[in-house]
Amino acid sequence: MKLLVAFALVVVAASAAPQGHQEDVLLVKETPSDNIGVGHYNYGYELSNGQAHQESAELLNAGTENESLAVRGSFTWVDPQTNVRYTVNYVADENGFQPQGDHIPA
Ligand SMILES: *[C@@H]1O[C@H](CO)[C@@H](O)[C@H](O)[C@H]1NC(C)=O
Repeated sequence: MKLLVAFALVVVAASAAPQGHQEDVLLVKETPSDNIGVGHYNYGYELSNGQAHQESAELLNAGTENESLAVRGSFTWVDPQTNVRYTVNYVADENGFQPQGDHIPA
C-alpha cells in the first residue's frame, strides 16, 4: 500500500515538473532493463528536454513475513524558463517515500 502511494507521488511530482512548449521530445537514452523475474527491476530513460528517470528495486527478506520491496531512483528535469536542472533522489521502502533534493527542505 505504501509503495502504491510512493509511486503515485512520483508520478504527480513528475507531471508537475515544468513542461516546455509543445516541441518534440525525443527519447535520447534508455537503460536496458534488467528484470530477472519477480521482486527485482531496474529501468531508466532520458529525454531530449533534459528530463530523466531511473529506478531500481530489490526484494528484501524474500519469503519471510517481513518481505518488502526497497525502491530507489531519481528523476531530473530542467526548468525551461531558467534552464535550472532539478534532481530528486528518492528511496521508497518500509519506511515510506523519502525524497531528497537540493531544493527540497530536509
Ligand atoms: C520481522 O520483523 C519483526 C519486527 O521487526 C521481527 O520481530 C521478526 O523477528 C521479523 N521476522 C523475521 C522472520 O525476520
